[in-house]
Amino acid sequence: MGKTLWFFLVFTCLLIPLAVADWNILKLQTQDGLKISLKNYCESWRMNVELHNIRDFQVVPEECTEYIGKYVKSTQYKVDSQRASEECLVYLSTSCNLKKDGLDAWIFDIDDTLLSTVPYYKNNLYGGKKLNVTSLEEWMRKGNAPALDHSLNLYNELKSRGVQIIMVTSRKEHLRSATIDNLVKVGYYGWTKIVFRDPANELVSVQKYKSDVRRQIINEGYRIWGIVGDQYSSIEGIPNPRRAFKLPNPMYYVA
Ligand SMILES: *[C@@H]1O[C@H](CO)[C@@H](O)[C@H](O)[C@H]1NC(C)=O
Repeated sequence: MGKTLWFFLVFTCLLIPLAVADWNILKLQTQDGLKISLKNYCESWRMNVELHNIRDFQVVPEECTEYIGKYVKSTQYKVDSQRASEECLVYLSTSCNLKKDGLDAWIFDIDDTLLSTVPYYKNNLYGGKKLNVTSLEEWMRKGNAPALDHSLNLYNELKSRGVQIIMVTSRKEHLRSATIDNLVKVGYYGWTKIVFRDPANELVSVQKYKSDVRRQIINEGYRIWGIVGDQYSSIEGIPNPRRAFKLPNPMYYVA
């Protein structure tokens, strides 16, 4: 028995990495026999991340890192994000009865919503490597994250309509001044409130932390008309905003 079992195990271990490496050589099929390309496979992975069917992924699948890298650098990514910002303004114009008393508010997440972390993730196989928080925070501390233009436009449009801008980020308190410098440098200013994560509440999930902040903001009298974020944990949870807008982000998942 021993010999056969060993042979089987060794053979299987050799085969698994081969199957991954030869992905583009193998002719892919779905369960019902549909022939698909690697691009089909990776686009459906990306789409299902955005639909929130795929959750809690630690890394982008190895065979899709190139595809995801191309996407976040593409015109398509810009157009997808731009469309989300346009829909925010449609909603604002058609469905929000702004009181303009200084209590109409809109919440923004920061990373991959106002600022892009793509330059960091570029050196991280676009999410293909497990996140190293130390090196990510070192990068954030340099304050060189570029603005996402569609969000900057939305931000300015909201401000001009008298909506108070509130930022709620899972960046920690020690990154406060670097983050503010970065935001101002790329054109964000005139916000009402910016909330960083207190090390004391790092034990709760990001979703719980962000929901608790929303409750506090509502208790202060603000009407939260909408939220924009790139993670479901930024926009889901009680109390709900009236509307939430999700920006694309296939590089990582924050619970
Ligand atoms: C994480 O990043 C830090 C700072 O760049 C580095 O010193 C450390 O070795 C990295 N850790 C791992 C597990 O790669």
